[in-house]
Amino acid sequence: MTVSIEQIREAALAEAGSATSAGVLDDVRVKYLGRSGKVTLLLREISRLPKEERPSFGQSVNKLKVEVAKAIDEAAETLARRDEGESLRSSALDVTLPGRRPLVGSRHIITQTMEEILDILTDMGFTIEYGPEVESDYYNFEALNFPPDHPARDMQDTFFITDSLLLRTHTSPTQIRVMEKTEPPLRVAMPGKCFRSEAINPRSHIVFHQIEGLYVDEGVTFGDLKGTLDAFLRTYFGKDTKLRFRPSFFPFTEPSAEVDVSCFLCRGKGCRVCKHSGWLELLGAGMVDPAVFEVVGYDPEKYTGYAWGLGIDRLVMMKYGITDIRILFENHMQFLRQF
Ligand code: FA5
Repeated sequence: MTVSIEQIREAALAEAGSATSAGVLDDVRVKYLGRSGKVTLLLREISRLPKEERPSFGQSVNKLKVEVAKAIDEAAETLARRDEGESLRSSALDVTLPGRRPLVGSRHIITQTMEEILDILTDMGFTIEYGPEVESDYYNFEALNFPPDHPARDMQDTFFITDSLLLRTHTSPTQIRVMEKTEPPLRVAMPGKCFRSEAINPRSHIVFHQIEGLYVDEGVTFGDLKGTLDAFLRTYFGKDTKLRFRPSFFPFTEPSAEVDVSCFLCRGKGCRVCKHSGWLELLGAGMVDPAVFEVVGYDPEKYTGYAWGLGIDRLVMMKYGITDIRILFENHMQFLRQF
């Protein structure tokens, strides 16, 4: 039996010392100290020995058990230290590797264009005002001289939230809000998002952007409107740009006009972008209707004014030769990074 204890000790210590992984070491623990392990079986033999042999045999086996357990614990610690060292080595930073450049964001081309236009307009004496995107029927239509059920409302297909709340279809309601709180003279630019329930196609979207211009004072004429738009659009598109006014209708301006600019690409000769007409439709404009002045409490006998609403998305499309408005809203990184 003494030989057996000695053999088991030697084998167990050797196997614990040479275990190459925590898994192998677990097997060693089971082999010697598990429920049917070699040391455990020796302990069970004690009761079968003659009484006088039991104390010394028991002492030897218990000593063996402690030694084997200690050897296994020490081997486990050594393995854990080795594994930790390896993982530190493998995760260490290689400071000689070239760095990865983080992606630098930039402002959207619509935002850049808005800012560029507002810069031009503020240089021309306009102040800037913002209105809410969720508007009331009153500001979006009624105060702008669209009577209820008037067919002119069909010009702007509307997303209604309730019977009297909607997503604004143009920036013109901000005109009313500004005039309600300001006495003339005033010269204001009002940028923002607009929403219309339209079929999406290459030229029209359900979300787009406008900048509204409004100038009210004594003696403002259609000539002032033409002169201001001419100066503004020639600063933006270049000094050779020509404007064309076509008669139109808006309930809140009289007379009203659609304004086209000569095609920036072909300089009016006719090309794919302007559909071979030489002209690009850009904005609606006109002299503020006296009925609107009455709504906001201005004296229509004393004051006159002009207003215009310019589509920013179409302006961007024209300037950069973009043929489909949808690409502006599709988070297309390759496209957006060009600007
Ligand atoms: C208006 O919205 C008037 N409020 C403009 C106005 C203001 C007239 C002040 C008189 C005085 P209109 O519906 O034509 O008008 O739109 C003006 C511009 O917005 C258009 O010329 C176009 O550039 C742009 N626009 C209109 N609908 C869309 C759309 N669905 N997608 C992209 N741009 C649009």
